[in-house]
Amino acid sequence: MFQTKKSTIFDSELIYTLHIFQMFAYLLVALTALTYGLYYYFKTTYNYWKKKNVAGPEPMFLFGNLFESVMRKKHSGTVFKEAYDQFPNEKVVGVYRMVTPSLLIKDLDIVKQIMIKDFDLFVDRGVEFSKQGLGANLFHADGDTWRVLRNRFTPLFTSGKLKNMSYLMTNAAEDFLNYVDTLTKEQPVQDVYTLVRTFTVTIISACAFGLDIDIHNDKKLLKRVATIDKLIFEPTYFFELDMLYPGVLKKINSSLFPKLISTFFYELARNVILDRKGAPIGRKDFMDLILELRQQGEIKGMRRSDETELQLDFNEDVIAAQAFIFYAAGYETSATTMAFMLYELAKNKDVQEKLLEEIDEVLKKYDGKVTYDCISDLHYMEKVFNETLRLYPIVDTLQRRAMIDYKVPGLDLVIEKGTLCLIPPLAIHRDAKHYPDPEKFDPERFSPENVGNRHPCAHIPFGTGPRNCIGMRFAKVQSRICITRLLSKYRVEPTDRTLKIMQFNPKRVVISPNGGIHLKLVPRA
Ligand code: HEM
Ligand SMILES: *[C@@H]1O[C@H](CO)[C@@H](O)[C@H](O)[C@H]1NC(C)=O
Ligand SMILES: *[C@@H]1O[C@H](CO)[C@@H](O)[C@H](O)[C@H]1NC(C)=O
Ligand SMILES: *[C@@H]1O[C@H](CO)[C@@H](O)[C@H](O)[C@H]1NC(C)=O
Repeated sequence: MFQTKKSTIFDSELIYTLHIFQMFAYLLVALTALTYGLYYYFKTTYNYWKKKNVAGPEPMFLFGNLFESVMRKKHSGTVFKEAYDQFPNEKVVGVYRMVTPSLLIKDLDIVKQIMIKDFDLFVDRGVEFSKQGLGANLFHADGDTWRVLRNRFTPLFTSGKLKNMSYLMTNAAEDFLNYVDTLTKEQPVQDVYTLVRTFTVTIISACAFGLDIDIHNDKKLLKRVATIDKLIFEPTYFFELDMLYPGVLKKINSSLFPKLISTFFYELARNVILDRKGAPIGRKDFMDLILELRQQGEIKGMRRSDETELQLDFNEDVIAAQAFIFYAAGYETSATTMAFMLYELAKNKDVQEKLLEEIDEVLKKYDGKVTYDCISDLHYMEKVFNETLRLYPIVDTLQRRAMIDYKVPGLDLVIEKGTLCLIPPLAIHRDAKHYPDPEKFDPERFSPENVGNRHPCAHIPFGTGPRNCIGMRFAKVQSRICITRLLSKYRVEPTDRTLKIMQFNPKRVVISPNGGIHLKLVPRA
């Protein structure tokens, strides 16, 4: 009817219009189907915890509960703390890391169960990636590889070995103090976060790679260290990719770290080993200890699953991967802890006075020498250190992956095999249930009485159980040597650039101060 009234000239136009219309209709149908598909996909995905009757914050399309962290607006530690605080009466909270359901653990008895009592069912951290890209290291490796590595490398971290290594730390502390003297003569206000990092980088280079670096005078080196730091500690979207497709990095043989990093550390390790002709040279650093281990034979262990023997070739790649993780885990964590400690000391004069008194007294006993034995005598320092790590636990969050379907004791809940359990130190440490007036800095929380009245898992800055931080002693010793030497000569004061309320940098993997910590270093009379 419509057509008969039209001349043929318009026919082609009409067909064209119809064609467009048809295309449009197809598109509309396809889009609707896709939307419904996605809608049902996400509805099912985000129904996971509801179906299990586990409470949790409302997830957002694609991002789950991590929108602010994915956008790098908030540190993931803060995001998980908010989810934790939102459900005061729950023992566990169901969250979604993008589309992956994970279980946030609040109840400390369940924390203990997972981390300690049933550790054998929760060995993996769930962050494994390609072994060729530095992945064969203690922190990232899973399962049997981890177990074998941990057994083999634990003897490197005994107090005896550390004591033998501590001369490297005390020497570096003298250089550090000279550097501080020169700097503060010109400008007494310094960013102590950057400052103490020069100390820990020097130490870890000396201990992990046997390198005596002069970071205070070598501008090129300083730049290189900063580049490496960025590549290790600024979060990349590989993290999110792994949340969307768990295990993808291992499957596509990809590393969490760029090629530049793996090449750099492989080369470094190879050169040091070559330099030492493959044998220890009496420096007593980690590289010496590793080479000593290697002389004792290859790394062997049993596979848990079938009791067959697992043999790890003790080659340069495995050595490089461990030296890399000692480096990465060794300097930033301690530096940040020290910076937060100085920040709280500047804000809490009475605590600083008390600590200075203790330092002066102990140093007098040891002829003014900051030695390994001397720092073991600093008991108030231990409390201050622990209280600092309570308020600012550097690693957030701890992770353990269920190896089987696991019935949670005391709850009507089965954690499905493969589910990641998240244990959030920041949230636990600032929970008024465990620490009254939690935002207050008070070292007396670590008096023997107060410690005795708390759940053993209420303070977990180094994690807990068989997979806790292997470098805890090392961290304590290097931090104490640095702080003791610094405070024997300076006191710290806040300035108008010092943050009243600490903010965490969302663009770092670990918890660290946003914009540094600017304090005035005042020479002591
Ligand atoms: C204040 C300083 C430090 C803090 C707060 C810290 C914290 C942690 C935490 C929370 C973990 C995970 C533990 C768990 O999952 O239960 C960890 C693991 C680890 N840390 Fe540290 N750490 C520090 C210093 C160091 C140092 C100095 C080294 C090495 C020299 C080191 C090497 C490691 C390694 C290799 C692991 C993996 C252990 C494993 O999976 O078997 N850390 N650290
Ligand atoms: C520390 O060094 C000394 C001297 O070389 C050595 O005899 C001792 O065995 C070392 N201690 C440890 C625990 O390795
Ligand atoms: C994985 O990548 C490394 C280089 O990054 C390469 O040497 C290795 O052969 C690769 N392995 C597989 C299984 O593709
Ligand atoms: C300090 O914290 C560590 C780690 O939680 C703990 O092992 C140690 O006993 C604590 N020290 C004091 C004095 O509470």
